[in-house]
Formats: sequence, C-alpha cells, structure tokens
Amino acid sequence: PLVTTDHLLDPARAEGRGVGAFNVIQIEHAEAFVAAATEVGAGVVLQISQNAARWHGGLEPVAAASLAIARAAEVPVVVHLDHAEDRDLVTEAIELGFTSVMYDGSALDYEDNVAATAEVVAQARAVGVFVEAELGKVGGKDGVHAPGVRTDPAEAVEFVDATGVDALAVAVGSSHAMTDRTASLDFARIAELRAAVPVPLVLHGSSGVPDADLTRAVETGMTKINVSTHLNNTLTTALRAYLDENPTVVDPRKYLGAGRDAMRAEVVRLLGVLRAA
Ligand code: G3H
Ligand code: ZN
Repeated sequence: PLVTTDHLLDPARAEGRGVGAFNVIQIEHAEAFVAAATEVGAGVVLQISQNAARWHGGLEPVAAASLAIARAAEVPVVVHLDHAEDRDLVTEAIELGFTSVMYDGSALDYEDNVAATAEVVAQARAVGVFVEAELGKVGGKDGVHAPGVRTDPAEAVEFVDATGVDALAVAVGSSHAMTDRTASLDFARIAELRAAVPVPLVLHGSSGVPDADLTRAVETGMTKINVSTHLNNTLTTALRAYLDENPTVVDPRKYLGAGRDAMRAEVVRLLGVLRAA
C-alpha cells in the first residue's frame, strides 16, 4: 500500500535500520524497486526528482505509474517528490497524491531556506503530506562536487524547530552523481547530528559511498538513504551487456527486462547493506 514516510522512517530510526529511497526515471525502476522490497519484506521510497519530471515533460505520467505500483504493493511504499526547488511542483505533487515531498532550499540563504521550507510544511501538513528539507548543500547535482561541506548541528536543530520539517537532508561528506564509490563520510558529524536533531536524517548522494560505509552510516544515525546513480549504472551495464550479446533483438521488453532484473537484484543486496528489513 501507499504510506507516508513517517510510517517507514520513525520505526527505522528507533531501531537503527535504514530505509532505501530510490529514484524512478522509467516505470521499470519502480517495478524493480518494489519487487526487491517485496522480496526482502521491507518498505521502500520511490522518489521522482524535479529533473525526472522535467525529462518526462511533466510530473503526472511517471507519478501515476509509481502511485499505481505503490498502491498495488504488498509492502509499504512511499511516493516522494525529490529535490523540488519549484514550489508549484510541490503543489502539483500534493494534488497528484504524493505522500511525501522534498523541498530543496539548500541553495538559498539560511533565512530564505527557513521561510520557504516553513511555508511548504504548512501547506503539506494541512493534507498529511511528509516534508523533507535540506540544510547544508550536498553538492554534485550541478557537476560541482563539494565533499567538504558540513551541516552544523546547532543550526540544524534551529532549522528543524523553525520550520517544523519532518526529515532533514544533511551534508556529511557525500556528493551527488558519483560513478565511483570513493566518498568519505564524516561519521563523527553524523553522530553529532543524530544526537542533536529530533527528526530522521537523510543521506543524499549515497551512490558514491562504499557498502561498508553505508551500513556504518545507518548504524551511526542516517535513516533515509537516497540512491540513484548507482542503480542507473546497474541498469545501463545490464542493458549494454544484453544488447552486445543479442544484437538482433528489437523488443524493448527483452533488454529492459534484463535491466529491470539487474536493478531488482542490486536493490535486494542494497536493502541488506542498509539493514532495511
Ligand atoms: O536525491 C537523490 C540522491 O541524493 C541520489 O544521489 O545519484 O548520487 O545516488 P546519487
Ligand atoms: Zn539528492
């Protein structure tokens, strides 16, 4: 069934488990992620980014597919808007039935981020939608990596108090869109943030983090673990291999099927790494 994010994050945070949050670009992503979650008996977050919505010419087509897959699932599934900087897209997501949104004001000044995030929280709370925000910009989305950026724990506490946000994305050494897994997380900072901040913490740019460090990040206090690039690597590698081995195949179900199977297997493995079950 379709659930709100607190349904997954609150027990996971209390029990030191991670929750996998995976980015949907094609319907096959959503199918693979829910199949994997079902196989291991864990909930999962399907997230659609502002960039993915733009790629499809709008949020609704990929949202409708993801929402249908979530509602039909045996395990609890969240449909979440990822990295929305456009407030109109937040409104559209809420109207479409998303149970969760990330408003990303991390590029704004602190005061402007607080003001805009608080407005989104007021809007979402009125209809029972969960809100994630970001403080301390996790780099890499624009191709510029800034692994040295850190979220200040005292500022994070003040931000959560001032905005009423339900979960907080923090900068602790990861960076978006890494294709090698060489990120070095600041575990001391994660522990400080976990001790100080009263809401679940979100790790962005998790593709660049080695497996052992993902497990340790969860044990140290990160709860929602966002993975996108790594699974696109899984998909693309499987497609490339399939097409190389089967040069006469033209039915997309054949090669997309190989890609979907590969993503499902990798998410099963990752959910184990994240102690999600
Ligand atoms: O919001 C999405 C994530 O932070 C994914 O980042 O592509 O580096 O795994 P990634
Ligand atoms: Zn992100």
